[in-house]
Amino acid sequence: MAIGAFHTFTKAQIKAAVAQAYDEAKQVTGGENAHYIPYLANVDPSLFGLSVCLADGTRFSMGDTSSVFGIESVSKVPTAALVMEQSGAETVRKDIGADATGLPFNSVLAVCLENDRPSTPLVNAGAMAACSMVEPQGQAEGKWREIRQNIEALCGSPVAVIDELYRSESATNFQNRSIAWLLKDYGRLYDDVEMSVDLYTRQCSLGVTAEQLAIMAATIANGGENPVTGERVFAEKLAGPLTSLIATVGFYQNTGDWLYESGIPAKTGVGGAVLGVMPGLFGVCAFAPPLDGAGNSVRGQAAVKALMRILDLSIF
Ligand code: DON
Repeated sequence: MAIGAFHTFTKAQIKAAVAQAYDEAKQVTGGENAHYIPYLANVDPSLFGLSVCLADGTRFSMGDTSSVFGIESVSKVPTAALVMEQSGAETVRKDIGADATGLPFNSVLAVCLENDRPSTPLVNAGAMAACSMVEPQGQAEGKWREIRQNIEALCGSPVAVIDELYRSESATNFQNRSIAWLLKDYGRLYDDVEMSVDLYTRQCSLGVTAEQLAIMAATIANGGENPVTGERVFAEKLAGPLTSLIATVGFYQNTGDWLYESGIPAKTGVGGAVLGVMPGLFGVCAFAPPLDGAGNSVRGQAAVKALMRILDLSIF
Protein backbone atom coordinates (compact mmCIF):
# COMPACT_ATOMS: atom_id res chain seq x y z
CA MET A 1 0.00 0.00 0.00
CA ALA A 2 1.20 3.53 -0.70
CA ILE A 3 2.33 5.37 2.43
CA GLY A 4 -0.34 8.06 1.89
CA ALA A 5 -3.07 5.44 2.28
CA PHE A 6 -2.03 5.00 5.93
CA HIS A 7 -4.03 8.13 6.66
CA THR A 8 -7.24 6.35 5.64
CA PHE A 9 -6.90 4.07 8.69
CA THR A 10 -8.92 4.97 11.76
CA LYS A 11 -7.15 4.94 15.12
CA ALA A 12 -9.28 1.92 16.06
CA GLN A 13 -7.95 0.03 13.02
CA ILE A 14 -4.34 0.86 13.90
CA LYS A 15 -4.95 -0.24 17.49
CA ALA A 16 -6.42 -3.52 16.24
CA ALA A 17 -3.40 -4.02 13.93
CA VAL A 18 -1.01 -3.56 16.88
CA ALA A 19 -3.01 -6.11 18.92
CA GLN A 20 -3.01 -8.61 16.04
CA ALA A 21 0.73 -8.21 15.42
CA TYR A 22 1.37 -8.74 19.13
CA ASP A 23 -0.79 -11.89 19.24
CA GLU A 24 0.87 -13.33 16.14
CA ALA A 25 4.40 -12.67 17.36
CA LYS A 26 3.62 -14.15 20.79
CA GLN A 27 3.41 -17.52 19.04
CA VAL A 28 6.96 -17.15 17.70
CA THR A 29 9.63 -18.93 19.73
CA GLY A 30 13.37 -19.43 19.43
CA GLY A 31 16.51 -17.46 20.05
CA GLU A 32 18.51 -16.97 23.22
CA ASN A 33 19.25 -14.06 25.52
CA ALA A 34 22.61 -12.38 24.89
CA HIS A 35 25.14 -14.39 26.90
CA TYR A 36 28.31 -12.37 26.42
CA ILE A 37 27.01 -9.72 28.85
CA PRO A 38 26.26 -11.60 32.12
CA TYR A 39 23.36 -9.33 33.20
CA LEU A 40 21.46 -9.86 29.95
CA ALA A 41 21.73 -13.64 30.20
CA ASN A 42 19.57 -13.51 33.34
CA VAL A 43 16.72 -11.29 32.06
CA ASP A 44 13.30 -13.02 31.93
CA PRO A 45 13.17 -14.38 28.33
CA SER A 46 9.36 -14.42 28.31
CA LEU A 47 9.05 -10.61 28.47
CA PHE A 48 7.40 -9.24 25.34
CA GLY A 49 5.97 -5.82 24.51
CA LEU A 50 4.92 -3.94 21.40
CA SER A 51 4.41 -0.19 21.42
CA VAL A 52 3.51 2.21 18.60
CA CYS A 53 3.55 6.00 18.72
CA LEU A 54 1.98 7.87 15.81
CA ALA A 55 3.46 11.09 14.44
CA ASP A 56 0.64 12.95 16.24
CA GLY A 57 1.62 11.41 19.61
CA THR A 58 -1.19 8.82 19.83
CA ARG A 59 0.10 5.61 21.45
CA PHE A 60 -0.92 1.96 21.38
CA SER A 61 0.80 -0.60 23.58
CA MET A 62 0.47 -4.34 24.15
CA GLY A 63 2.22 -6.55 26.71
CA ASP A 64 5.32 -5.67 28.71
CA THR A 65 5.78 -2.14 27.39
CA SER A 66 6.52 -0.64 30.83
CA SER A 67 9.28 -3.15 31.70
CA VAL A 68 12.71 -1.53 31.96
CA PHE A 69 15.46 -3.18 29.89
CA GLY A 70 18.92 -2.30 28.58
CA ILE A 71 18.78 0.03 25.57
CA GLU A 72 22.11 -1.37 24.28
CA SER A 73 22.80 -0.68 20.60
CA VAL A 74 19.61 1.30 20.11
CA SER A 75 21.52 4.03 22.01
CA LYS A 76 23.73 4.40 18.95
CA VAL A 77 20.85 6.12 17.15
CA PRO A 78 20.27 9.02 19.60
CA THR A 79 23.99 9.65 20.01
CA ALA A 80 24.40 9.72 16.23
CA ALA A 81 21.63 12.34 16.18
CA LEU A 82 23.40 14.28 18.93
CA VAL A 83 26.76 14.50 17.16
CA MET A 84 25.01 15.33 13.88
CA GLU A 85 23.21 18.15 15.69
CA GLN A 86 26.38 19.36 17.43
CA SER A 87 28.89 19.05 14.57
CA GLY A 88 26.78 18.76 11.40
CA ALA A 89 25.78 15.70 9.40
CA GLU A 90 28.63 16.10 6.91
CA THR A 91 31.29 16.20 9.63
CA VAL A 92 29.90 12.97 11.10
CA ARG A 93 29.86 11.40 7.66
CA LYS A 94 33.44 12.48 6.99
CA ASP A 95 34.81 11.47 10.42
CA ILE A 96 32.78 8.28 10.98
CA GLY A 97 30.93 7.32 7.76
CA ALA A 98 27.45 6.40 6.53
CA ASP A 99 27.99 2.93 5.15
CA ALA A 100 27.20 -0.66 6.04
CA THR A 101 30.00 -2.95 7.22
CA GLY A 102 28.29 -6.22 6.26
CA LEU A 103 29.86 -7.67 9.40
CA PRO A 104 28.82 -8.22 13.04
CA PHE A 105 28.30 -5.19 15.30
CA ASN A 106 31.55 -5.75 17.22
CA SER A 107 33.74 -6.73 14.28
CA VAL A 108 37.43 -5.91 14.63
CA LEU A 109 37.92 -7.04 11.05
CA ALA A 110 35.51 -4.35 9.81
CA VAL A 111 37.71 -1.70 11.43
CA CYS A 112 40.84 -3.16 9.82
CA LEU A 113 39.25 -3.46 6.37
CA GLU A 114 37.88 0.10 6.40
CA ASN A 115 40.73 1.72 8.26
CA ASP A 116 40.04 5.16 6.85
CA ARG A 117 36.75 5.42 8.82
CA PRO A 118 34.68 3.28 11.20
CA SER A 119 31.93 3.15 8.51
CA THR A 120 28.84 4.17 10.52
CA PRO A 121 27.90 5.46 13.98
CA LEU A 122 25.56 2.45 14.30
CA VAL A 123 28.19 -0.27 14.89
CA ASN A 124 30.31 -0.47 18.05
CA ALA A 125 33.39 1.15 16.45
CA GLY A 126 31.47 4.10 15.02
CA ALA A 127 29.37 4.47 18.16
CA MET A 128 32.51 4.81 20.30
CA ALA A 129 33.85 7.32 17.75
CA ALA A 130 30.54 9.19 18.07
CA CYS A 131 30.88 9.26 21.87
CA SER A 132 34.38 10.65 21.39
CA MET A 133 32.96 13.46 19.19
CA VAL A 134 30.31 14.60 21.71
CA GLU A 135 30.88 18.12 23.01
CA PRO A 136 32.21 19.36 25.40
CA GLN A 137 35.47 17.69 24.45
CA GLY A 138 37.58 16.27 27.28
CA GLN A 139 34.81 16.50 29.89
CA ALA A 140 33.37 13.10 30.77
CA GLU A 141 30.49 14.34 32.93
CA GLY A 142 29.56 17.15 30.53
CA LYS A 143 29.51 14.70 27.62
CA TRP A 144 27.48 12.19 29.62
CA ARG A 145 24.94 14.89 30.52
CA GLU A 146 24.52 15.69 26.81
CA ILE A 147 24.13 12.01 25.87
CA ARG A 148 21.58 11.25 28.60
CA GLN A 149 19.59 14.45 28.21
CA ASN A 150 19.36 13.91 24.46
CA ILE A 151 17.96 10.41 25.02
CA GLU A 152 15.49 11.78 27.56
CA ALA A 153 14.36 14.48 25.15
CA LEU A 154 13.82 11.88 22.41
CA CYS A 155 11.87 9.60 24.79
CA GLY A 156 10.07 12.47 26.51
CA SER A 157 10.84 11.12 30.01
CA PRO A 158 13.76 10.38 32.36
CA VAL A 159 16.12 7.43 31.92
CA ALA A 160 18.69 5.99 34.34
CA VAL A 161 21.63 3.61 34.08
CA ILE A 162 20.94 0.04 35.25
CA ASP A 163 23.95 -0.17 37.58
CA GLU A 164 24.21 -3.95 37.48
CA LEU A 165 24.19 -3.92 33.67
CA TYR A 166 26.82 -1.17 33.57
CA ARG A 167 29.08 -3.13 35.93
CA SER A 168 28.46 -6.30 33.95
CA GLU A 169 29.40 -4.65 30.64
CA SER A 170 32.37 -2.75 32.05
CA ALA A 171 33.83 -5.98 33.42
CA THR A 172 33.58 -7.78 30.07
CA ASN A 173 33.99 -5.17 27.29
CA PHE A 174 37.52 -6.15 26.22
CA GLN A 175 36.63 -6.39 22.56
CA ASN A 176 35.18 -2.87 22.53
CA ARG A 177 38.29 -1.55 24.22
CA SER A 178 40.44 -3.26 21.60
CA ILE A 179 38.36 -1.69 18.84
CA ALA A 180 38.65 1.74 20.45
CA TRP A 181 42.45 1.52 20.69
CA LEU A 182 42.61 0.37 17.07
CA LEU A 183 40.53 3.41 16.09
CA LYS A 184 42.91 5.59 18.07
CA ASP A 185 45.79 4.16 16.04
CA TYR A 186 43.92 5.05 12.83
CA GLY A 187 43.22 8.60 14.07
CA ARG A 188 39.47 7.92 14.32
CA LEU A 189 38.88 8.32 18.03
CA TYR A 190 38.49 12.01 18.81
CA ASP A 191 38.76 12.21 22.61
CA ASP A 192 40.32 10.22 25.45
CA VAL A 193 40.05 6.52 24.55
CA GLU A 194 39.00 4.99 27.89
CA MET A 195 36.57 7.89 28.48
CA SER A 196 34.94 7.27 25.10
CA VAL A 197 34.61 3.54 25.76
CA ASP A 198 33.11 4.27 29.17
CA LEU A 199 30.58 6.76 27.76
CA TYR A 200 29.54 4.19 25.17
CA THR A 201 29.24 1.46 27.83
CA ARG A 202 27.19 3.77 30.05
CA GLN A 203 24.79 4.72 27.26
CA CYS A 204 24.30 1.04 26.38
CA SER A 205 23.44 0.35 30.05
CA LEU A 206 20.59 2.85 30.22
CA GLY A 207 17.26 1.35 31.21
CA VAL A 208 14.34 2.15 28.92
CA THR A 209 10.85 0.82 28.18
CA ALA A 210 9.30 -0.12 24.85
CA GLU A 211 6.94 2.83 25.26
CA GLN A 212 9.87 5.22 25.63
CA LEU A 213 11.64 3.83 22.56
CA ALA A 214 8.42 4.01 20.50
CA ILE A 215 8.29 7.73 21.33
CA MET A 216 11.98 8.07 20.40
CA ALA A 217 11.24 6.38 17.06
CA ALA A 218 8.20 8.59 16.54
CA THR A 219 10.33 11.67 17.21
CA ILE A 220 12.65 10.60 14.39
CA ALA A 221 9.64 9.77 12.17
CA ASN A 222 8.26 13.21 13.02
CA GLY A 223 11.39 15.04 11.79
CA GLY A 224 13.05 15.59 15.17
CA GLU A 225 10.10 17.06 17.08
CA ASN A 226 8.87 14.86 19.93
CA PRO A 227 5.14 14.38 19.17
CA VAL A 228 4.30 13.76 22.84
CA THR A 229 6.16 16.65 24.51
CA GLY A 230 6.24 19.01 21.52
CA GLU A 231 10.00 19.59 22.05
CA ARG A 232 12.24 19.95 18.99
CA VAL A 233 15.16 17.62 19.72
CA PHE A 234 17.13 17.82 16.48
CA ALA A 235 16.92 19.80 13.24
CA GLU A 236 14.35 18.53 10.75
CA LYS A 237 16.98 18.23 8.00
CA LEU A 238 18.79 15.53 10.05
CA ALA A 239 15.83 13.13 10.13
CA GLY A 240 16.46 11.83 6.59
CA PRO A 241 20.20 11.21 7.04
CA LEU A 242 19.61 9.60 10.46
CA THR A 243 16.90 7.30 9.11
CA SER A 244 19.14 6.36 6.18
CA LEU A 245 21.83 5.23 8.65
CA ILE A 246 19.22 3.06 10.39
CA ALA A 247 18.03 1.60 7.08
CA THR A 248 21.61 0.86 5.97
CA VAL A 249 22.97 -1.02 8.97
CA GLY A 250 20.28 -1.33 11.69
CA PHE A 251 20.45 -5.14 11.59
CA TYR A 252 24.20 -5.36 10.92
CA GLN A 253 25.04 -8.19 8.51
CA ASN A 254 21.33 -9.03 8.21
CA THR A 255 20.15 -5.54 7.28
CA GLY A 256 19.38 -6.27 3.62
CA ASP A 257 17.20 -9.25 4.49
CA TRP A 258 15.43 -7.26 7.18
CA LEU A 259 14.63 -4.34 4.88
CA TYR A 260 13.61 -6.68 2.06
CA GLU A 261 11.22 -8.61 4.27
CA SER A 262 9.88 -5.87 6.56
CA GLY A 263 9.92 -2.62 4.55
CA ILE A 264 10.83 -0.51 7.61
CA PRO A 265 14.19 0.97 8.70
CA ALA A 266 14.89 -0.42 12.16
CA LYS A 267 17.64 -0.63 14.77
CA THR A 268 18.13 -3.43 17.24
CA GLY A 269 19.85 -3.87 20.60
CA VAL A 270 21.07 -7.00 22.37
CA GLY A 271 18.75 -6.08 25.25
CA GLY A 272 15.96 -7.28 22.94
CA ALA A 273 14.65 -4.06 21.38
CA VAL A 274 13.72 -3.47 17.76
CA LEU A 275 13.08 0.23 17.08
CA GLY A 276 11.40 1.00 13.73
CA VAL A 277 10.91 4.35 12.01
CA MET A 278 8.20 4.96 9.39
CA PRO A 279 8.97 8.53 8.25
CA GLY A 280 6.00 10.85 8.68
CA LEU A 281 3.78 8.08 10.05
CA PHE A 282 4.91 6.42 13.29
CA GLY A 283 7.61 4.93 15.45
CA VAL A 284 7.44 1.40 16.82
CA CYS A 285 9.36 -0.57 19.43
CA ALA A 286 9.07 -4.29 20.02
CA PHE A 287 10.94 -5.79 22.97
CA ALA A 288 11.69 -9.47 23.67
CA PRO A 289 15.10 -10.64 25.00
CA PRO A 290 15.84 -13.85 23.00
CA LEU A 291 18.05 -13.04 19.99
CA ASP A 292 19.02 -14.67 16.70
CA GLY A 293 22.64 -15.35 15.72
CA ALA A 294 23.23 -11.76 14.61
CA GLY A 295 22.06 -10.33 17.96
CA ASN A 296 18.57 -9.23 16.87
CA SER A 297 15.39 -10.02 18.87
CA VAL A 298 13.54 -12.97 17.33
CA ARG A 299 10.07 -12.10 18.60
CA GLY A 300 10.72 -8.36 18.21
CA GLN A 301 11.43 -8.87 14.51
CA ALA A 302 8.30 -11.00 14.14
CA ALA A 303 6.13 -8.33 15.81
CA VAL A 304 7.36 -5.42 13.67
CA LYS A 305 7.16 -7.49 10.48
CA ALA A 306 3.63 -8.60 11.34
CA LEU A 307 2.57 -5.00 11.98
CA MET A 308 3.92 -3.88 8.60
CA ARG A 309 2.22 -6.80 6.84
CA ILE A 310 -1.13 -6.22 8.57
CA LEU A 311 -1.01 -2.50 7.73
CA ASP A 312 0.19 -3.39 4.21
CA LEU A 313 2.97 -0.82 4.48
CA SER A 314 6.55 -0.43 3.19
CA ILE A 315 8.84 2.57 2.72
CA PHE A 316 9.35 1.29 -0.79
O1 DON B 1 28.82 -3.10 22.93
C1 DON B 1 28.09 -4.08 22.98
O2 DON B 1 28.45 -5.17 22.54
C2 DON B 1 26.73 -3.93 23.61
N1 DON B 1 26.78 -2.96 24.66
C3 DON B 1 25.71 -3.51 22.59
C4 DON B 1 25.63 -4.41 21.37
C5 DON B 1 24.31 -4.45 20.72
O3 DON B 1 23.30 -4.13 21.29
C6 DON B 1 24.26 -5.02 19.34
N2 DON B 1 22.92 -5.00 18.82
N3 DON B 1 22.11 -5.76 18.44
